[in-house]
Amino acid sequence: MPVCHTGGRGFEPRQPRQPRSWLRLPTQTGPFLLWSVPTAPSIPYHVPVLAESVRAWGTGSRRAVDATLGGGGHAAIFRELGATVLGIDRDPDAIAAARRHLGTAGIEYLEASFAAPAATAAIREFHPDRILLDLGVSSHQIDAAERGFTFRPGAPLDMRMGAGAGVKGQGARGVTAADLLNSWPVERLSTVFSDYADERRARALAKEVVRRRLSAPFGVSDDFVNAIRAVLGSRSGPSDFARLFQALRIAVNEELDSLEAALPELRDALVPGGSLGVITYHSGEDRIVKHTFREWSRECVCPPRQPVCTCRGHALGTVLTKKAIVPQPSEIAANPRARSARFRAFEVADGV
Ligand SMILES: C[S@@+](CC[C@H](N)C(=O)[O-])C[C@H]1O[C@@H](n2cnc3c(N)ncnc32)[C@H](O)[C@@H]1O
Repeated sequence: MPVCHTGGRGFEPRQPRQPRSWLRLPTQTGPFLLWSVPTAPSIPYHVPVLAESVRAWGTGSRRAVDATLGGGGHAAIFRELGATVLGIDRDPDAIAAARRHLGTAGIEYLEASFAAPAATAAIREFHPDRILLDLGVSSHQIDAAERGFTFRPGAPLDMRMGAGAGVKGQGARGVTAADLLNSWPVERLSTVFSDYADERRARALAKEVVRRRLSAPFGVSDDFVNAIRAVLGSRSGPSDFARLFQALRIAVNEELDSLEAALPELRDALVPGGSLGVITYHSGEDRIVKHTFREWSRECVCPPRQPVCTCRGHALGTVLTKKAIVPQPSEIAANPRARSARFRAFEVADGV
């Protein structure tokens, strides 16, 4: 858990010595990188978000890790910039799609969670100067109804990112969204709905879930949508369903815990002067990234009243993004899934 306090010892977070030109760039000024999988020629696998900001941030990279490869849109940018790439994703469909798109020249692939020890070991060995996390799910995952990330009628309540599409349950790890709804106690469900979805009626919804599962277990999206409607009323709609389905997905994949655990490992894997960039889509994710980067940029993290400094005593690097970079309205108009994106970057100090 990162320590995050304002301290009382007169230190200031270190700011970049000179403004980075990429920070002043208007975001998403260039054309979108859009590509399709061969099996579905008219549907893009995923449109990379904040592509021009990532391009500007990645300029100069020789060895880049894209730790949330998805369809390979951002990895393609690193390749265009001349970097050798290590692409990681926990979803085998994403690895396969990126491999079809990018081939094997100048890029290696690894199917793993970026928080897994095997992945962090591989990243260290790669000696990257850039590591990118573009969190959440790809458009392809949302659009593949059988993966159960959607509240479209009849979709199975699955949501495991590691599950193979079309072979639900086969070889996949971990609990599904249905397992969680059918077995977790009221308190735990209530925490998921309040912490991850800011749901004011979280406890009532958790109780409704437990009441309903006594007569019939949760199996498909409609079951959860009906429970939401019963508690939030007939005026509840897609934005409520999206928020609460996202909360389930975050719990199923332990997304916030993975992020929190992985950030220090990823920072330590960078070469001196290297940079870690994170694109988030959820306030809980963004809070973790913002506070962690801020804490790393502090010279002293001792408790405020401690008379003598006993901590590391130096900043681990510099926050490159004083404020998160967000998409321009034009990007959001072209790709509504970009609307909640926030990009932050941290540069590790030379010689840490
Ligand atoms: C928003 S998409 C990335 C899209 C990609 N940047 C692109 O341009 O095509 C997020 C991807 O991260 C993957 N992912 C999410 N959490 C992960 C984790 N802990 N480890 C590895 N991959 C993860 C998902 O499977 C998904 O493919």
